[in-house]
Parts: sequence; C-alpha cells; structure tokens
Amino acid sequence: MTIFEAYNGAKKQLKAAGIEDYVFEAKQIIKHVTGLTSAQILTDYNKSLSEFQQNNLTAILRQREIRYPLQYIFGEWEFYGRSFYVGPGVLIPRADTEILAETALEYLKDKENPRALDLCAGSGCIGITLAKEREDGRVTLVEKYDEALSFADKNLKRNYCKNAELIKGDIFESAAAKNNEYDLIVSNPPYISPDEMKTVSPETEFEPESALLAGDGGMEFYKAIIKNYKSSLKVGGMMAFEVGINRYGQISDLLKAAGFKDTGVKKDLNNIERVVYAIK
Ligand SMILES: C[S@@+](CC[C@H](N)C(=O)[O-])C[C@H]1O[C@@H](n2cnc3c(N)ncnc32)[C@H](O)[C@@H]1O
Repeated sequence: MTIFEAYNGAKKQLKAAGIEDYVFEAKQIIKHVTGLTSAQILTDYNKSLSEFQQNNLTAILRQREIRYPLQYIFGEWEFYGRSFYVGPGVLIPRADTEILAETALEYLKDKENPRALDLCAGSGCIGITLAKEREDGRVTLVEKYDEALSFADKNLKRNYCKNAELIKGDIFESAAAKNNEYDLIVSNPPYISPDEMKTVSPETEFEPESALLAGDGGMEFYKAIIKNYKSSLKVGGMMAFEVGINRYGQISDLLKAAGFKDTGVKKDLNNIERVVYAIK
C-alpha cells in the first residue's frame, strides 16, 4: 500500500465513521504513522508503507471508528505552540481555550513579575503557557484529581517550566487562596450541566466526567471561584474564565454582583462568546 492509497483509504474510513474533520485527521494520522512531514508526504506519496506502519494505521483507524479521541491515540496535542501530553484521565486542550490564555497574556503585558493562579489546571496547558510566555512571573496551578495532576506534572517537565508550581487541591476548599497575592486568576472549570452532558460529542464521552460536569446548571464552579478567590486578587487584578455557549451574560452578572468592574467578553474562532473577564 502506497502513502497515497493509505491517505485516501483513511479519508474514506474516517468519513464513513462520521468524523467531520476527516481530511485533516487522515493527514495527521499518515504523518504520525510514517513519521514524515506534510512536505515529505507530498513528494513521497508513491512510497510503500512497511508492514508495521500498515498495522499501526489499521489499529488507529479502528480506534477512530469507535470515536476514541485522536489526541489520546497520539498521546500528545498542541496548545499555544507547545506540546502537551494527554491521555485518559485528562481533558484534551482545546483551541478555543487559547483565547483565555491570550486574554490573560494581554492583561499581563504591563505587569512586572506577575503572579498568576490557574484553577482547575488539568493538563496544565493554560498555566504552563502563562509561565513560559512570562518567565519573569510565577504561576500556581491547582488541580484536584491525581490522573490530571500526573499529566500536568509531566507537562511542566516536558516544557522545562521553572517558574510554576503545581498544587493538589480543591477550589471548593479555596486551595492556594492567599490575600492580595495574584495579579491574575484564570480558570477553565468544568461547566457542562447534566442536561448538556447528553449532547456532547462521542469523543468527549471518553474524557473524564470530573473535567466536564458541573452542578447548579453548570454554574457551581464559577460561583465558588468568585466567592472563594476574590480576596486573593490584588486590587486592579483580573479574573478571567472560559465559559460555555450562551453563558457569558450569567457569568458577567455574577462578577458584577461580586463587585468586579470593567467586565468584558472575547469571542472564539467560531464567533461564540468564550471568555469572560473582569477587574477587581
Ligand atoms: C474543563 S477542565 C480544564 C482543564 C485545563 N485547564 C484546560 O483548559 O484544558 C477542568 C479541570 O478541573 C478539574 N477539577 C474538577 N473539580 C475540581 C475541583 N473541585 N478543584 C480543582 N480542580 C477540579 C478537573 O479534573 C479538570 O482537570
């Protein structure tokens, strides 16, 4: 089987499995299996796959047919230009979450040696991005669950992150809260309500429920973080959240009711209001 035949076969199989992004995925899978770059694939398309590569391709396509996430198959995924280990037990970093990292970095632009807190850190993608982009600052990452913590720990090491600390803790118990300590508190908390859980993609069903599901109609984490961590922000500090579809109004209102000012919203690549922020 040539690379060209493998690519066309993969596209067909992925499309038949109902995968929307089947062209992109087929290319990623061929790159992964052959170890070639996109440019090499174009020039070497008539080369044959080895038996090992063909077996690997078959196994990957079988996993995708049952909609096991591509990111878990590869074991790593990119966020804000860096690679992060991922696998069962941790949320896969989403491209939309880069808007939260961007909003945070934009705010920190004028701060020297900023202190930042990333609550509900998961793989560590947000906190590690902040720490790497601002090596003069210091970032604390808080995560409750061991599986996610172990990925975050590996990702800190993988990215040679020297200015970040990872804390096992629960945001409902105010882990890492400290009076007037932080310039910035960011969080992409679980925000899917039990009703919305019934409509998530087949891939999302393989991700940990503890990273997704939130009580109180999806609002419980926002309410707890605003209540438990407002005093940890310096005056003038920013609190910024990733939010679910059509939630930005509710979360802006919560921030205003808690005495925050200058609330703002940022849209994601699909024009959906994805980030809500406010100043203490
Ligand atoms: C939506 S995921 C976000 C992960 C990561 N920040 C990202 O953007 O990809 C939410 C994370 O919160 C963690 N979590 C759930 N309940 C928590 C709690 N009570 N305290 C701290 N972390 C919690 C989950 O394990 C999960 O890693």
